[in-house]
Amino acid sequence: MTPGPQFPDDFRAALVNLFLWRRDVRRFKPTPLPEGALERLLGIASIAPSVGLSQPWRFVVVESPQRREAVKACFERCNAEALTAFCGERAALYARLKLAGLNEAPCQFAVFADHATEQGHRLGRMTMPATIEYSAVMAVHTLWLAARAEDIGMGWVSILDPAEMAAILDTPPQWTLIGYFCLGYPSQEHSVPELEREGWEVRRPPTIIVR
Ligand SMILES: Cc1cc2nc3c(=O)[nH]c(=O)nc-3n(C[C@H](O)[C@H](O)[C@H](O)COP(=O)(O)O)c2cc1C
Repeated sequence: MTPGPQFPDDFRAALVNLFLWRRDVRRFKPTPLPEGALERLLGIASIAPSVGLSQPWRFVVVESPQRREAVKACFERCNAEALTAFCGERAALYARLKLAGLNEAPCQFAVFADHATEQGHRLGRMTMPATIEYSAVMAVHTLWLAARAEDIGMGWVSILDPAEMAAILDTPPQWTLIGYFCLGYPSQEHSVPELEREGWEVRRPPTIIVR
């Protein structure tokens, strides 16, 4: 039997630091990612756990200026609509938030979950079809952490219309949108989430509920 790796104390400490400093990034330097970086990160994401080993994540890399403009227009419309849900000071605060780095991020991609995949032979998902989406989210989080370990920041954009995104990216009907992602080198480093710094919300201490 091949012995598994040993994870020393300094690795554990660095890993906690990685979790603490991961951040959702919306402010990017224009510097492009090095050749092969995206492919490497997508490869790491594909090691993520998935229901029945179905690997249902589908990555759509968005490079064409036309598609990027269409995604930006979709975000701007959805964001303007979202603003109308708030009033008073909360609306003023929402209007000031930067909720995407679509203008700056050198690398952008969408992630979908493929409900039509036969991989995994439906094991584990017959009673809970949403496990297909959960699996795709696992890949996203794996990529997010792996990117940060290479000093690359990632931002999740969910203020989008899934039907419009499917049309823009011309995806099969059985794919559901997980999110749109901006990747690049952060122009700022923070240990505190931007929404907390801006006064939108505070991160609470962990609570354990046992019933
Ligand atoms: C499912 C999901 C959707 C999100 N959508 C957005 C979004 O549309 N725009 C945005 O700025 N941040 C988005 N975020 C990032 C969160 O705002 C962020 O994770 C949270 O404020 C905590 O900050 P941190 O990731 O820097 O720790 C999303 C995060 C998740 C997990």
